[in-house]
Amino acid sequence: MNIKLEILKAFRAQPDQFISGERLSELCNCSRTAVWKHIEELRQEGYQFEAVRRSGYRLVSAPDRITAEEITVGLATEVIGQTVRAYDTVESTQILAHQAAAQGAPEGTVVLAEQQTGGKGRLGRSWHSPKHAGVWMSLVLRPDIPLPRAPQITLLTAVAMVKTIKRETGLDADIKWPNDILLNGKKMCGILTELQAESDRINYLIVGIGVNVNTRAEDFPPELRALATSLRLESGRLIRRAAFIQTFCVQFEQLYQEYLQRGFAPIRARWEASAVTLGRQVTVRTSKETLHGRAVGLDADGSLIVEDAAGVRHKVYSADIEQGAIS
Ligand code: BTN
Repeated sequence: MNIKLEILKAFRAQPDQFISGERLSELCNCSRTAVWKHIEELRQEGYQFEAVRRSGYRLVSAPDRITAEEITVGLATEVIGQTVRAYDTVESTQILAHQAAAQGAPEGTVVLAEQQTGGKGRLGRSWHSPKHAGVWMSLVLRPDIPLPRAPQITLLTAVAMVKTIKRETGLDADIKWPNDILLNGKKMCGILTELQAESDRINYLIVGIGVNVNTRAEDFPPELRALATSLRLESGRLIRRAAFIQTFCVQFEQLYQEYLQRGFAPIRARWEASAVTLGRQVTVRTSKETLHGRAVGLDADGSLIVEDAAGVRHKVYSADIEQGAIS
């Protein structure tokens, strides 16, 4: 039994209440000395407890830290986030999630870090991941779907993120194809999906999600300041990151179950409702070519359909796009 987890569960079940050491030792099936030792450990991690003789302990405040306990206590999912690996500083949660998945980590495993020193972005870019400021998370999935459908999971993730942002801040975020989440035209979240497959069978997918949550303007390197934003900058308040992650896990699980049962159509409709790319003039840059045209829709496989000036339709799978006016 994870005693710290059980102690936190007890306090979450009775917010603002004193719980005696004796009661805690019953709930955690351990000695009172062990309870005291774990409360001291939680204090070291930034939890504040009031201790009153004969009444016991009261949880006064919890730190905004991403720990396995903070994510799993009270998490209302069946699969997503039920296994958590939380780290302080890592090179990239993607690397750790790949290793965990290769060693058999179950579907829904979430790998989190307070800081990444080598955060990976799309198209070989880096992802700025300062300490305690964001959510740097990689999710292990094992969907039983054909390989060509894998990009749909990225679009699903973007929809889950838009719903999470709405619930946690009230803000309406936009999706820029394929998976940038924007607030007021600036990027606050990016998604990077990587996979391990044999012939056309997916062994596992790693969905990497980077969210600028409490990042301040000065935390961004100068070259990103005009392009990037955070939930804190847009909402004017600090967001509890563990609660944000829990909400994301719930939203993701609902959409993922719907997707596995009913296919991509409902997800596609939701994606289109939040997309700011469709109907716009776009410049598409791939490693091979640059294409100008109008983004006219999303194909069933998740690719973007772009119509050029001659009326020819192109399917775009992986590219950088620049958006122009609606036309
Ligand atoms: C993008 O370029 O928009 C995608 C960024 C993805 C960043 C996240 S942060 C957590 C996970 N670990 C990484 O190294 N990258 C992804």
